[in-house]
Amino acid sequence: MTTTSRRALLGVGLAGGAGALAGCTSGRDPAPAGDTPSTSASTSAAAMPGRGDLDVPDFDPRDWSSVRDQFPLPTDRAQFAAFVLSPHTAQVSAAIDHHRARLDTDTEAALLEGQALEEAVRRAAASYAGGSPGQFALTDSTTTGISLMYGGLDLAPGDEVLTTTHDFYSTEAALRLLALRTGAGLRPTTLYDDPATATVDQLTSRLADAVTDRTRVVAVTWVHSGTGVRLPITEIAAVVAEANRDRSGSERIRFCVDGVHGFAAVDVDLPDLGCDFLAAGTHKWLFGPRGTGVLWGRDWQPLTELIPTFSGPGEAQRMTPGGYHDFEHRWALSEAFAFHERIGRDRVVARTVEQASALKEGLAEVDGIRVVTPRDPEVSAGIVCVDVRGMLPADAVAALREQGVVASATPYRQSYLRLGPSIVTSPEEVDAAVQAVSGLV
Ligand SMILES: Cc1ncc(COP(=O)(O)O)c(C=O)c1O
Repeated sequence: MTTTSRRALLGVGLAGGAGALAGCTSGRDPAPAGDTPSTSASTSAAAMPGRGDLDVPDFDPRDWSSVRDQFPLPTDRAQFAAFVLSPHTAQVSAAIDHHRARLDTDTEAALLEGQALEEAVRRAAASYAGGSPGQFALTDSTTTGISLMYGGLDLAPGDEVLTTTHDFYSTEAALRLLALRTGAGLRPTTLYDDPATATVDQLTSRLADAVTDRTRVVAVTWVHSGTGVRLPITEIAAVVAEANRDRSGSERIRFCVDGVHGFAAVDVDLPDLGCDFLAAGTHKWLFGPRGTGVLWGRDWQPLTELIPTFSGPGEAQRMTPGGYHDFEHRWALSEAFAFHERIGRDRVVARTVEQASALKEGLAEVDGIRVVTPRDPEVSAGIVCVDVRGMLPADAVAALREQGVVASATPYRQSYLRLGPSIVTSPEEVDAAVQAVSGLV
């Protein structure tokens, strides 16, 4: 394709809207998931059109205080709730400012480059999380990805969705709508009675025991935000694969995951998890722009899109909801992936897990505090939930804030005090948090 015709295509793609893209998006064309080779996030970001003179602040990725300095959160408080909705790093803010200025001053030119900027985000996602760029649809949140996943599946009366009693509202509601739309039944299963003692074997075997001949979807959450329990997704994928061995076509089980509290909190490539689809907001543990997320799909064929795309040809584009967005946030997502890649995904996760382990160990010693999250890192990630004897979680959150510790309360019927150590916190702040929580009882 010549430069001119490519620019023309990019132009109609975003500036011309859905009508101009009809030829690209009308079908379920077999599609090149994995069409573009992945490159490193920083390389792709540097080369991308529209990046122009974008100059992101430098930092020392080996020095945790330099990493922490990239966040605008005040340092007079220990920030254990930063993962709930990300504060923007200096790099993400610089990219947002850059793209916003371009949109404000020459919207047409900025939109012309939009499709290439989206492609750069997909490449950065694949470089960071594994898989290929064509396996990443771009969304606005975990909830959008969950809705595209469960809203796009085709089921029939008599089919069953095997789910759990540990999922967040977004999954529960999306599954209720799936059942309403298709007549399929829901089969919620309890995978553990006491989160603190959950094990890989127990979680996997309870799930396996609940699979029936009618199961068509397994719908779970990677890390439960109400307890901090992390499900063994790879082991569950093996159970699904075994159940699928003699099934074909519409009888095959699709394995769908709300992955938001595992994404950037567990060091694994998404394809190695073994699931079919995974939805994750990139505005939590990745500390990407607020209002961004990804839906990863091994193969998009089973999903029908819900919203017409504006993103151009290709299957991941088909699953990327159209309409004009706050593009400055979407395009700045490349910088969040690049930030983590500079530090090292493994080092970021290790920093999170080390602090979570220290927090659990410290609090386990305290009379009147019950650590709800398992100690074993195999079945936990960054979230640490605790029960404070005789105190409502919301009151505990308020009392901790007075002592310079920012925490949150879990938004579930059974609520707990929740702390999320991350690259925004330090081991010293974990010690201070142990002291502060101990002082509540
Ligand atoms: C497990 C889980 N899934 C989904 C969400 C919603 O995420 P988002 O705001 O990205 O839709 C949350 C909480 O915010 C959550 O805890």
